[in-house]
Amino acid sequence: MRILVCGGAGYIGAHMCKILAENGFAVTVFDNLSTGFKKNVRWGKLICGDLLDQAAIDTCLNQEPFDAVMHFSALAIVSDSITQPGKYYENNVTGTLNLLSAMARHGVDKFIFSSTAAVYGSPETTTITEETTVNPATPYGASKWMAERILKDFEIAHKIRSVIFRYFNAAGAEPAGQIGEDHDPETHLIPNILQSLNGKDNNKLNIFGNDYPTPDGTCIRDYIHVNDICQAHLSALTYLQNGGQSDCFNIGNGNGFSILEVIAAVERVTGKKVEYEIKARREGDPAILVANSDKLKQRLNWQPEFTELDQIIETAWRYYCR
Ligand code: UFG
Repeated sequence: MRILVCGGAGYIGAHMCKILAENGFAVTVFDNLSTGFKKNVRWGKLICGDLLDQAAIDTCLNQEPFDAVMHFSALAIVSDSITQPGKYYENNVTGTLNLLSAMARHGVDKFIFSSTAAVYGSPETTTITEETTVNPATPYGASKWMAERILKDFEIAHKIRSVIFRYFNAAGAEPAGQIGEDHDPETHLIPNILQSLNGKDNNKLNIFGNDYPTPDGTCIRDYIHVNDICQAHLSALTYLQNGGQSDCFNIGNGNGFSILEVIAAVERVTGKKVEYEIKARREGDPAILVANSDKLKQRLNWQPEFTELDQIIETAWRYYCR
């Protein structure tokens, strides 16, 4: 099968390309390299282009008869989406719309979409299922929810079947350490903790708020290994190929860890002490986000391989050290 991976130069997309290639798929990456890196595109060819440029997408889809599209391209910094909503809606909604319209024109009918736990906003429940009310609290979450909604209409009109994955906190790196999490600027917790260990410039981790309604006051998240996310995508590909209906799945480990618990895990894994300062809350952060992924386990026969937080951090640390 030939797979078009939009956003394949980014963190999760690059891991996906590696796993696709290892499983015998032919991979083409479409990426504008705005947040991804050329060096990450090692398991397929790169077409540099932007999803806001319809002609560029048409040119890409003209090149090969793709069997399916995986869509990882997005702006994904929640706090930036609050200050620059127009940019987020344009990129995440219009970009997805352009991609789907081009797929309809070219007869590509299988789509796997990277959505987010942010579509749920700040739910009251302790674990979130796909039935939990969708109520995005930020432009980022709303942009992903709008794209999810558009998919329904494209299925009716153009028979594009889709699997939507709502990611909780993607983390870690592929165990060989060739690729990993590398954003510029980096906003995510685990890479920022690891960077704080490098001893340069009195680096300290900033903890954004310790007055949340959680046992230690810091935010609780569900960290899921990037390879486990990609394995779910691989299962979705087979599912759609076998005629499976469009569906939506949470991806998480089902365990929540506070920022202080993540710090303790990093100290265990690295043997180093993490220095930190408590800062004000970051805008748009819900207190607790923990997934129930039973539906994914049952319907797509998925099981996470990296179930322990320490295992996930070990892979991130190996990449960081390289
Ligand atoms: N944090 C810090 N210091 C840092 C970085 C993060 O204290 O240097 C805190 C954040 O405030 C948050 C937690 O660590 O409480 C996790 O933050 P990340 O930036 O690593 O990840 P987010 O929880 O913000 O992002 C995730 C997903 C998004 C999703 C979002 C929903 O990556 O897709 O949750 O809020 F939209």
